[in-house]
Amino acid sequence: MSFCFNFPNPSNDNSADGRNSHTFSHEVLNEECSLVPCEFISSSDINFKDVQGINRKKRKFASLEVVYVTQETIANQIENLDVFSEKTSDLVPGKYEGGLKVWECSIDLAQYLADNNCIQENDYVLELGCGIGLPGLVAYLCGGVVTFQDFNSEVLKLLTAPNVWLNTTEENQIDILQRCQFLCGDWHDIKEIYYSEDKEKKLYDVIITSETIYERNNQRKLLNLMKSALKPGGVIYLASKVHYFGVGGGIADFEELLKEDGTFNFSTVLKTTEGVERRILKLTRKTS
Ligand SMILES: C[S@@+](CC[C@H](N)C(=O)[O-])C[C@H]1O[C@@H](n2cnc3c(N)ncnc32)[C@H](O)[C@@H]1O
Repeated sequence: MSFCFNFPNPSNDNSADGRNSHTFSHEVLNEECSLVPCEFISSSDINFKDVQGINRKKRKFASLEVVYVTQETIANQIENLDVFSEKTSDLVPGKYEGGLKVWECSIDLAQYLADNNCIQENDYVLELGCGIGLPGLVAYLCGGVVTFQDFNSEVLKLLTAPNVWLNTTEENQIDILQRCQFLCGDWHDIKEIYYSEDKEKKLYDVIITSETIYERNNQRKLLNLMKSALKPGGVIYLASKVHYFGVGGGIADFEELLKEDGTFNFSTVLKTTEGVERRILKLTRKTS
């Protein structure tokens, strides 16, 4: 799958819909303005069965089979949504951040998690920037209690949540909502709203994320949220291309940021050179 960044003018952003949600406006470092809802999506706003009867894809990761749908299969629902109306490329910064399709590193990460038994039953798992959510689905099938996070609520409602439903046996469908949550919003807003000092915070044993460090200006927001949301003793798996041409982000910048920040030890646990160069990093909190 090719990686194409073709940035239209973000100043046309009129996507915000603050119904029943925290709507949070802030200046990001590159002076683009982000205004998207930030909330745990209520089950009444999700139609898990929307994808019934629609063509599915299947992928095996070790002994786990993941069933899922992607944007092609729900194209007719997407084209009517305002948030995707200007979508002429893989991303529209500050409006649509790429969650509708499966990116290569999510396959690497899903495979790595399955091959290495990274998720234990009842682990609290957070997938940041999940999109379709293959790594999160693997975590779910391994018995994890998974929060799927994406910038766009529409992605979570139309694809991620139905994908969870597709991977749930009939007898377990009643407890999907006990085992999964869906959180939309910008990483900066999530940290401000759910991890401020006076809040009871939901902490995670494992944080997973794929293809989320392509934009240098967003890396700090992602790291800050990881620092707030990871349990002591928890682990982060981050999958990324080595370099994102045209945007400038990638592994080297993020490693630089990790060194400068000093919170985590990190190491490369997987290198892939076939096709575009990719890595998986493992991060653990430094003990003082
Ligand atoms: C390139 S897509 C990757 C999707 C998926 N992880 C994969 O690998 O297939 C980037 C993902 O990061 C999320 N994302 C990007 N910037 C974000 C931000 N500032 N706040 C929250 N989520 C963001 C998007 O919603 C999107 O799902």
